[in-house]
Amino acid sequence: MFMRLTKQEQKMLEGAEGHAVQKSMEILVALGEIYGADSLIEVSSVQVSGVSYNNLGDAGLEFLDELARDGKVRVLTTLNPAGMDLENWRNLGISAEFAEKQNLVIKAFEKMGILVSCTCTPYLIGNLPLFGEHIAWSESSAVTFANSVIGAKTNKEGGPSALAAAFVGKTPCYGLHLDKNRVPDVHVHVRANLSKLSDWGALGYAIGMKAENKIPYITGIKATDLDGLKSFCASIVTYGVKPLFYIKGISPASEQQTIPKTTVIIEQADIKNAYDKINDQVTDIELVCVGCPHCSINEISKVAELVKGKKVAKDTEFWVATSRSVKQLADKSGYTRVIEAAGGKFACDTCMAVAPLKGRFKSLATTSAKGCFYSRQNLMKTKMGSIEECVQAAVSGKWNS
Ligand code: F3S
Repeated sequence: MFMRLTKQEQKMLEGAEGHAVQKSMEILVALGEIYGADSLIEVSSVQVSGVSYNNLGDAGLEFLDELARDGKVRVLTTLNPAGMDLENWRNLGISAEFAEKQNLVIKAFEKMGILVSCTCTPYLIGNLPLFGEHIAWSESSAVTFANSVIGAKTNKEGGPSALAAAFVGKTPCYGLHLDKNRVPDVHVHVRANLSKLSDWGALGYAIGMKAENKIPYITGIKATDLDGLKSFCASIVTYGVKPLFYIKGISPASEQQTIPKTTVIIEQADIKNAYDKINDQVTDIELVCVGCPHCSINEISKVAELVKGKKVAKDTEFWVATSRSVKQLADKSGYTRVIEAAGGKFACDTCMAVAPLKGRFKSLATTSAKGCFYSRQNLMKTKMGSIEECVQAAVSGKWNS
């Protein structure tokens, strides 16, 4: 099937609006034809992943430089985390060579008119779509949050297709942009008790194991909060579910959907099993990182309260990963001073998965199931637990449970 293009889109494809727009149209049309879209639709915002030089390398940097020559975004566009804290990279042990390349990547994005937000929680810093809006986002946890918690509509874009959408202001209309593809196809009933932040990561793992590649309609959740949902969105999509779910009474579109007949149950034993699978055998902890997805101000306030008057262990690093905007709130509220006085470090603009950490730390403690998944790829043994357990690991250098 061929996509219907408007006259203006056809001209863009022929190069009338410059190289970056032409290249973008080629990407969008190719994608649309692969996935059977019949047209492009307007998007109200874009979120671009593929920002860390660690993942991009020189080939990626060249691609961005080429687009930055004449490419300018047409809609609000924000960036995923980069490979380092853009201001305090030395403090996180990043080399000058890496920083130089990472800064060139950021310059290219800036030239395109993209906000250098460098966060996986764009919805906490002003890139907040409305219910039903079409957007083109690429960070998987944010895509899942947008689709499921906000009720906006987006596929999980790759870095280049998100950029293309930003230059054209449109994306091919297929997949999760269409209501017929947003229908839940498995009912997940949760009988487990969720008492701490990391339980949401464990729940995401447990559902991923039982509902792979499906859209779950989840019942049995009595209460949650922003931080729990943010953690759940990161985990459930990492462990295999499509980037859309409904939680009865919480997802805004949950009342418009029918509960599917096929039902799977999540018991307490499934949550325990998730912890058993995510946690490795390790006691000495070299890196503790909270903030995957990036910390909210509420999470930072809890960290500050727990770490106040204590000291991070000599052989352990304690990172609080967050956006620069949320860190500014932490500065104003005095949380930064408390955390840094204890020896903790803020990792703004970056995270443990996209910073060049391979081989640097042997073990990690975190609140995040997704963080554990990616840190294993960076050759770390992982432990997942509550903020309290993570702070305890930071000050003792040991994982106790
Ligand atoms: Fe965000 Fe990095 Fe976690 S991008 S969701 S902090 S792995």
